Amino acid sequence: MPEVHLGLKGVYFASTTSSFIDGEVGKLLYRGYAIHDLAEHSTFEETAYLLLYGALPTRAELSAFDQQLKQSRPIPEPVMEVIRLTKQAHPMDVLRTAVSALAAYDPDVSDNSLAANLRKGIRLTAQVPTIICAHDRIRKGLPPVTPSNTLSHAANFLYMLFDKHPDPADAKLMDLDFILHAEHGSNASAFACRVAVSSLADLHGGITAAVATLKGPAHGGAAEEVMKMAEDIGTPERAEAYVRERLAKHGKVMGFGHRVYRAEDPRARHLRERSRELAERCGEPRWYQILDHIHEVMKPYNAKGIWVNVDFYAGSIYYLLGVPEDLFIPIFAAGRVPGWVLQAIEQYDDNILLRPLLEYTGPMDLQYVPIDQRG
Ligand code: ACO
Repeated sequence: MPEVHLGLKGVYFASTTSSFIDGEVGKLLYRGYAIHDLAEHSTFEETAYLLLYGALPTRAELSAFDQQLKQSRPIPEPVMEVIRLTKQAHPMDVLRTAVSALAAYDPDVSDNSLAANLRKGIRLTAQVPTIICAHDRIRKGLPPVTPSNTLSHAANFLYMLFDKHPDPADAKLMDLDFILHAEHGSNASAFACRVAVSSLADLHGGITAAVATLKGPAHGGAAEEVMKMAEDIGTPERAEAYVRERLAKHGKVMGFGHRVYRAEDPRARHLRERSRELAERCGEPRWYQILDHIHEVMKPYNAKGIWVNVDFYAGSIYYLLGVPEDLFIPIFAAGRVPGWVLQAIEQYDDNILLRPLLEYTGPMDLQYVPIDQRG
């Protein structure tokens, strides 16, 4: 009998220099650098450069990279039309469709060389926020906001979403969120991206597969679900009873648990602090208090390896920034593009078709009965 590894749990299928995760102690490094240092000192642009090129940039390198990102923000008009045509769909469906449509207008689409993949990766990193924000505006009957060519990646995102220059503190928060979501090893969406490109399909195909995979509530959908849960709960006093009832019914509490971490997700602490500060700044402490109560009730589950993950606090931050709930997963996608691109580049670099086996458990050697003789 073959040994089946359900969910590929614990299976190593390749080597990487992208990120290091020690799930037992809650340690995360991007290209060797601690997530805590990047969260405190870096910017999304610098972190994206680090991921794509493998080293922190010099000032001149960062400035050139930033210019490339800024110049790549606009999307072709036919892709804008695709967004208009599909505007009633979930933003992740629109994003998946629009990313796929970008392939039709990318000059490097079928060039899988490293140089072309870096160019495409930079373009996709810059274009994904434009798609998300254009769609949100279009579905509200508003004209899309032309991307800024001066604002940072994070500030431009908020600018395109709300058509006003963001408060610097909000832009800083968005920047931190993008850094924390930028890369995370062979998570389901990055794995899907690797599977797609392992057939030597192009990068747009890989990123489309990744966006499709991120949508599920077991992966990127958790932040949206956390906020729905907080809204259902309504007041901090009701949190404990709500969570206990959910657990008694063997339901999952969104924003807890992780395939790899058996300790607190190291990204969560940064968002916890910021969520608390933002709630105070907005004069709306209720959401943070509800989350805090849920966190308390879940503490006994730490012993079972169920700890808070990055998405638990992310939702409350987006909510307080005024972002619609169905954009929470697209925001995750916007931050994750450099990580997906890096995973794809590593796969192309040392490629083998990803093609595992399935253990067959169905019937054997059945006799084919002609259709007229079936009962
Ligand atoms: N709430 C309650 N119980 C949980 C939770 C949770 N959030 N997560 C895991 N458990 C329990 C399971 O019920 C299971 O218990 P059992 O052994 O008694 O049946 C045990 O812990 C193991 O859980 P699995 O789902 O088998 O673990 P797996 O590694 O497959 O799942 C996953 C990880 C999918 C993230 C899961 O913890 C989950 O669904 N969490 C909620 C959704 C979520 O927050 N997702 C975001 C993940 S982080 C990210 O993608 C950025």
